[in-house]
Amino acid sequence: MVRALARVDLGAIERNCARLAAVAAPARLCAVVKADGYGHGAVPVARAAQAGGAAWLGVATAGEAFELRSAGLEGRILVMGALSPAELAVALEARADIVAWREDFVTGLPPEVAVHVKLDTGMGRLGTRDPDEASRVVEAAGDRLAGLMTHFATADEDDPAFLHEQLERFQRWIARHPGVLVHAANSAATLREPAARFGMVRCGIAIYGMDPFHRDPADHGLEPALELVSYVAEVKRARPGESAGYGRRFVAERETWVGTIPVGYGDGVRRGLTDNADVLVGDRRVQLVGTVSMDNITVDLGDEPVERGTEAVLIGTRGGERILAEDLAARLGTINYEVTCGISPRVPREYEP
Ligand SMILES: Cc1ncc(COP(=O)(O)O)c(C=O)c1O
Repeated sequence: MVRALARVDLGAIERNCARLAAVAAPARLCAVVKADGYGHGAVPVARAAQAGGAAWLGVATAGEAFELRSAGLEGRILVMGALSPAELAVALEARADIVAWREDFVTGLPPEVAVHVKLDTGMGRLGTRDPDEASRVVEAAGDRLAGLMTHFATADEDDPAFLHEQLERFQRWIARHPGVLVHAANSAATLREPAARFGMVRCGIAIYGMDPFHRDPADHGLEPALELVSYVAEVKRARPGESAGYGRRFVAERETWVGTIPVGYGDGVRRGLTDNADVLVGDRRVQLVGTVSMDNITVDLGDEPVERGTEAVLIGTRGGERILAEDLAARLGTINYEVTCGISPRVPREYEP
């Protein structure tokens, strides 16, 4: 019995990529596998994404590109984040494409490096806001120029006004530089805005079968790829007045059975889920009760105890019941991205083909 396991269905990732590639075509698909593949495991995810038709891999850091290359992944890798001089050396060693938006940075680059110039059309983080400066960087890149890019701030939000503003700014700029690979769309923009797809889309969250709009991934034919499972390690009768967990946050009001599941915030099951989550225990939806501690949570099994060793599913589908990363995110007031990225290294990842 494994204490806790993140089971990753690589077939689901492959199918999600195939679906996104079909939606985006003729644009190419760049599968974004940064932050260890949004917690799923960058290398296996990258292989599955390529099998599903991803032509490019996207990461945030040079170290992430290096990890992919060291594992034998071929094909184009784009490092999308800022690079310190030390990181630049690592990115070049990994034969990765890099992003630039300052002339002095580009003029110092070796001739063989492939550069994507970034216009900040409204995200307000990396890139230059000035289209003229961006064009000077394009000129400075010369033969190293491999792409023109931007990133959207509100593609997942209901009101499309700012997305369209960013898109228009970007379109005006790229018109000055025809014949270059152009990319802008994250998952949300890919799914909702055909005009944003250009020559390539950069999809992260959707390749994992999570919904960029924080609702139901099935709305877009996406299959969640990750399950988080554990088991019931102990079952005990709680009489009225008896409690479970730190701070006695749960005190039984009536006789009930309490199950202890040996996962906690040390595994990425966030403390904010205290008294605030469901768990599927033996196909039954039960409530997490009491405080989430580092290594344990407790659930109220009601009048029906289960055998020790019964499976407990924190994210996944069993017997017609399902708990999505989106559900936990809603409970926590965060986004699905943070839920899977937060599953700690203490949880082994197991891969199904
Ligand atoms: C520059 C860039 N492009 C694309 C993505 C992928 O975004 P998403 O996971 O929403 O598809 C990210 C991730 O945040 C990003 O930083």
